[in-house]
Amino acid sequence: MDTANLFEARDYEYLRAQQYGTTEKLNARVALHAKYSTSDLDWFQWLRAQIEWSNVESLLEVGCGTGEFWSESIIAMNANTSVVLTDLSPIMVTTALSKARRHVQRVHGLEADVQSLPFRDDAFDSVIANQVLYHAKDPAKALDEIHRVLKPGGVLAASTIGPDHLRELFDIESVAFGARRPRTHADVFGRVTGREVIDKTFENVRWLQFDDRLRCTDTDDVVEYLTSTPPGENATPKELQRLRTEIERRMNENQGTLEVSKDCGLFLANASE
Ligand SMILES: C[S@@+](CC[C@H](N)C(=O)[O-])C[C@H]1O[C@@H](n2cnc3c(N)ncnc32)[C@H](O)[C@@H]1O
Repeated sequence: MDTANLFEARDYEYLRAQQYGTTEKLNARVALHAKYSTSDLDWFQWLRAQIEWSNVESLLEVGCGTGEFWSESIIAMNANTSVVLTDLSPIMVTTALSKARRHVQRVHGLEADVQSLPFRDDAFDSVIANQVLYHAKDPAKALDEIHRVLKPGGVLAASTIGPDHLRELFDIESVAFGARRPRTHADVFGRVTGREVIDKTFENVRWLQFDDRLRCTDTDDVVEYLTSTPPGENATPKELQRLRTEIERRMNENQGTLEVSKDCGLFLANASE
């Protein structure tokens, strides 16, 4: 397998038309976390709980994906709060909107690149960027844009992953496909790398770690996760067989369970006054 281009996943056309051109691949990844998470609160419940809703009258979500954040009603949110959902992919905007409309009175959506937002300066009290900034070609530019559309003192909630996130899955991947990812999302905008960039633009930056791990018991679920992105997305039948064999070998060694580390959390930060 040619590993030189693994990070072509950051190419916009690929992201817009293939990776996020349908909801299927993102759903497979969200489903693995939802099914096997050991935490009391799931990721989205935890995220919603970190936001100080009483101060939020206008909110922008960038890279809203399928709108999982809005799949439950947020009791603490003011009923008049206006919500704008944006994503690079049109199908994601449509899917997120249909979910959010069940719970949010004032919501609309549009296609937008986080590096070039079609909003006036100082438009929002809060911006959510959940697992998105590592997709930007230039995360610093995306942060400048977010800062521009936030009111002075407004809050950015930007989640991402750290270097240990899903470590065991990437080990399996390297056995099956014969190579490690040259760069991961954590290298682009992660718990450590993101801090350096965000500190340059925002004030009062703090990191909240989400305490969780996965206990996976079904090989098919793990295969589906690992074939939802490169390199697994383009795997040959032989590589797929190696993938399955390696997952099963590790599960058999541990009474049928694959333990997977998680390293993810949230930056909360304020736009300068
Ligand atoms: C990992 S998914 C996260 C989706 C959602 N926030 C969630 O947590 O389920 C990343 C999302 O960001 C979107 N995205 C990628 N690059 C983007 C960009 N430059 N501007 C806006 N959205 C982008 C993708 O289309 C995708 O929906």
